[in-house]
Amino acid sequence: MALFDFLKSSILSKIAMAVTGLLLVLFIVGHMVGNLQVFLGRDVFNTYAHFLQSLGELLWVIRFALFATLVVHIISSIRVKLLNAGAKPVKYSIKKYVKATWFGRSMLLTGITVFIFLAYHLAHFTIGAVDPSNFHFDEVYGPNGMFVRHDAWLMVVMGFKQPIVALLYIAGVILLGFHLNHAIQSMFQTLGWNHPKYFPTIEKSSVVFSVIIVLLYMTIPVSILLGLVGGNL
Ligand code: HEM
Repeated sequence: MALFDFLKSSILSKIAMAVTGLLLVLFIVGHMVGNLQVFLGRDVFNTYAHFLQSLGELLWVIRFALFATLVVHIISSIRVKLLNAGAKPVKYSIKKYVKATWFGRSMLLTGITVFIFLAYHLAHFTIGAVDPSNFHFDEVYGPNGMFVRHDAWLMVVMGFKQPIVALLYIAGVILLGFHLNHAIQSMFQTLGWNHPKYFPTIEKSSVVFSVIIVLLYMTIPVSILLGLVGGNL
């Protein structure tokens, strides 16, 4: 009975939400570090992309795990929200610590927008459906040009040379930043780590973290658009 009560309670959803949220943040940071290698040149970036592709079946396991993490995160976040709304007809006094910003109230909206951005992004760089003419590039590499691999660097550069594409990504990562900032703060609140003494620090750290993520991601489309990367092409 205790186990049944536990599964029904919001505690399990809260744990699931926090753990999957943390995993997604780790992915976002890792993916960003990987992508920033675009500044280290074509060879370094393509070696990294080639390494990921060479993982073969393991890559599919990682992709599946990532997708499952995202699904569990969405479901558990919605469940926690609904359980909280149902359980507390009278608002928390704690509520005041998380500022009732427009984006705070619009987690669902920014969440959906980030989801749409992600779908567009996968169709663009992973499936190649958005811009097929700038997807299939090959790079000849190795001693005496012995090998051929996917030229992911050129794909990214040719993608972001188009202002509309670069602007879409800039908008996408800004929305991701708003979502991330509020999600981190609300996770701390949900888990009960919202002591008035520490919450302002949590709030500031979350803003700083989200701004750094947004700015670093943005450097990629902005630098390519300004011709600082791939300007000679
Ligand atoms: C300037 C920003 C970004 C750039 C340049 C970029 C670049 C890329 C590239 C080149 C790929 C294809 C990897 C491959 O299939 O070989 C990719 C895949 C992916 N990206 Fe991004 N990305 C950016 C932002 C983001 C953001 C903000 C997110 C998350 C919200 C994200 C999530 C993903 C996911 C989930 C995949 C699929 C991974 C896979 O299929 O293995 N990306 N990205």
